[in-house]
Amino acid sequence: MSGRTTLTIVLAAGEGTRMRSSLPKVLHLVAGRPLVAHVLAAAPSDKGDAVAVVVGPDHQAVIDEIRRARPDAKTFVQRERLGTAHAVLAAREAIADGADDILIAFGDTPLIDATTFERMRVALKDGAALAVLGFRAADPTGYGRLLEEGGQLAAIREHADASEAERTVTLCNAGVMAFAGHTALTILDRIGNGNSKGEYYLTDAVAIMRELGLRAVVIETSEDEVRGINTKGQLAEAEQVMQRKLRQAALDAGVTLIAPETVFLAADTTFGKDVTIEPFVVIGPGVTIEDGAVIHSFSSLIDSRIGKNALVGPFARLRPGTVLGEGVRIGNFVETKASEIDAGTKVNHLTYIGDTHIGEKANIGAGTIVCNYDGFDKHRSEIGAGAFVGSNSSLVAPVKIGAGAFIGSGSVITREVPDDSLAVERSQQTVREGWAKRFREMKLLNRKPKSQK
Ligand code: UD1
Ligand code: CA
Repeated sequence: MSGRTTLTIVLAAGEGTRMRSSLPKVLHLVAGRPLVAHVLAAAPSDKGDAVAVVVGPDHQAVIDEIRRARPDAKTFVQRERLGTAHAVLAAREAIADGADDILIAFGDTPLIDATTFERMRVALKDGAALAVLGFRAADPTGYGRLLEEGGQLAAIREHADASEAERTVTLCNAGVMAFAGHTALTILDRIGNGNSKGEYYLTDAVAIMRELGLRAVVIETSEDEVRGINTKGQLAEAEQVMQRKLRQAALDAGVTLIAPETVFLAADTTFGKDVTIEPFVVIGPGVTIEDGAVIHSFSSLIDSRIGKNALVGPFARLRPGTVLGEGVRIGNFVETKASEIDAGTKVNHLTYIGDTHIGEKANIGAGTIVCNYDGFDKHRSEIGAGAFVGSNSSLVAPVKIGAGAFIGSGSVITREVPDDSLAVERSQQTVREGWAKRFREMKLLNRKPKSQK
């Protein structure tokens, strides 16, 4: 929205003990991206917009992830967990900077959509002082209930503090709120902790607004979008919802998915035109697949770029730093890592290519292994354009194979091979004519018939 600035405050101070993990809750992954990074990706990021994240003490790993996901984000530490309003006020300094709109979201609610934040901001622009995101809960137990009076949002009652009658309300607080910037601090500072838990509840903002004659409205969304994650079971459910969303987005963008329900995508996977993904492909973060490429079944890709019309798999494993040029072919049981493979090159069977640059139109025979690791260090290798590496060769890194060079099958290559030359490293073949025939005749002569044994 032009001309208006937004501060998004993400609350991520949760301990997440029910995940039964040593990893902080908001760092668990959905579609290859940490929960908190999903929320940060949905937060408004126009010029003038700011982001503040409230983390718990000893959450350095969370701070590091926030830096990666949103380098412009400020982090604030909430030392004691005294409630959601107390958490928001940990970012007081950011609020005091004075944004037009202040969005509050939870770091453990990764499916939230940017368009929902947008709808809430429109409500503020239209004059509301507070917009609360609500949803119809299949089972409202545990959620704050949105209590309306005369068609207006009057209060939010936390489950623990709600009466029997209030507990029958199914319209629930999703946790996301949007405050008009100019009144936010006044309201937040009035919130007390006189409730059953002795916490400062952000939800009390609604009743305070009403006392002051300010307008609070509800924006409704689906329960799926606001699933909060507290357990590994809920994490798996969110993964399912997210995968459905990503597959649908890929199909809508023209990607052919033959069996979409068997393909796993990452939140940041990007596709060109006319890409085909066969059944049972798993794509991790950082993958770009360009026009016309085909990923055959049972392949696994992460942090890789697949050039136009390249063919990958079946059963290929592309590890971080793989860059395939146009029309490259990577066949079955081929693993690549930190390697650039230029246009038209074929690596079709049973091969490992690591820390290597291969020029254009080279042919790497079945069973070629680049021995890139000596037990201490990784070394880089170079294979020139048009080179032909015979099957079952070991290329001991660091090594350079010149353009157009030819490596005899079964060679162990340890020294540079000049352009257009042949390198063979294997013992001389000996041939004894008639030997096999004589061998068989001798064996048969010495063999007693079975009945005499
Ligand atoms: C909260 C809402 C409830 C809503 C529900 C939706 C309040 C008082 N209640 O309840 O109306 O239906 O979310 O899921 O807001 N947090 C902090 N510091 C704190 C307390 C919480 O950072 O001191 C963070 C948590 O990490 C979490 C979020 O705030 O991301 C919500 O806290 P949680 O304790 O899960 O609130 P609920 O009781 O679920
Ligand atoms: Ca919760």
